[in-house]
Amino acid sequence: HSVAVLGAPFSKGQKRRGVEHGPKAIRDAGLIERLSNLDYPVHDFGDLSFQNLDKDEPYMQVPFPRSVGRANKLLSEAVGSAVASGHTTVMLGGDHSLAIGSVEGHARQCPDLCLIWVDAHADINTPLTSPSGNLHGQSVAFMLKELQNKMPELPGFSWVKPFLSAKDLVYIGLRDVDPGEYDILKELGIQCFTMRDIDRLGIQRVMEVTLDHLLSRKQRPIHLSFDIDAMDPSLAPATGTPVNGGLTYREGIWITEEIHNTGLLSVMDLVEVNPVLGASREAVEVTASLAVDIIASSLGQSRQGGLLGPLGIP
Ligand code: ARG
Ligand code: MN
Ligand code: MN
Ligand code: MN
Repeated sequence: HSVAVLGAPFSKGQKRRGVEHGPKAIRDAGLIERLSNLDYPVHDFGDLSFQNLDKDEPYMQVPFPRSVGRANKLLSEAVGSAVASGHTTVMLGGDHSLAIGSVEGHARQCPDLCLIWVDAHADINTPLTSPSGNLHGQSVAFMLKELQNKMPELPGFSWVKPFLSAKDLVYIGLRDVDPGEYDILKELGIQCFTMRDIDRLGIQRVMEVTLDHLLSRKQRPIHLSFDIDAMDPSLAPATGTPVNGGLTYREGIWITEEIHNTGLLSVMDLVEVNPVLGASREAVEVTASLAVDIIASSLGQSRQGGLLGPLGIP
């Protein structure tokens, strides 16, 4: 198979400047070169270009609805055609509102996909529950069939129809969930592994249960939506909504290795790297190079050495 890389330099799913430079920061950290060390062709499709809308008034506290809706429609088409061409697709954000278009475009090609959301946040607010109004905290609410009657019609989003069932989604890394989100997660019985669950069970068990939950009935394509703020802020400081007590480097890599080992990864998002928010150049570089490690590991970069196969205890 082959890999497609698609940049989405977009930031209007939240109010801080800079996350639109995420794709460049991740490429500058050597992404394409690292992926070409793996054993398949890499196609860099470059960055999408998003038009600026000069009139985009907030709609019930939600800023930039038309811009976010339109950017996601474009992204959905680009991801859909990369998947249709047979590429394992990597989407570089940009803020996490871009998952709406990425997962939607993927789902149009692969209606039976499942979604693994690795994040400090659940991003499942509706415009009515959201404390910030920001659409990057609402992406999942646009996807879920079960939330259809809780979602108002937002300008810019008439093209999105809910396509995912709550049972086809698992969260990993949660530690900052808003009250309205908590109620939704509870009511829909969504499988969640918070940082507390990871402390208790260990990341190995968490991945075992995650993959069993999603894949035991049938093998199906996986969409991995990885928010860099899932990682501990000491490892990923250059991001807009950092939360202490995140994933260790080795927990992050374990998650991606286990997903790679299923052979079912079809699309991944790597979002919320914000090079403007790093306190120093070094802070930006560690964040972007962590993003490269997470992507490479998801695509098969191994800690076991290339040609030898598994080392040590089987
Ligand atoms: N829950 C908060 C909100 O709704 C924060 C969301 C952060 N989301 C993100 N993709 N970083 O605004
Ligand atoms: Mn987050
Ligand atoms: Mn997120
Ligand atoms: Mn492999």
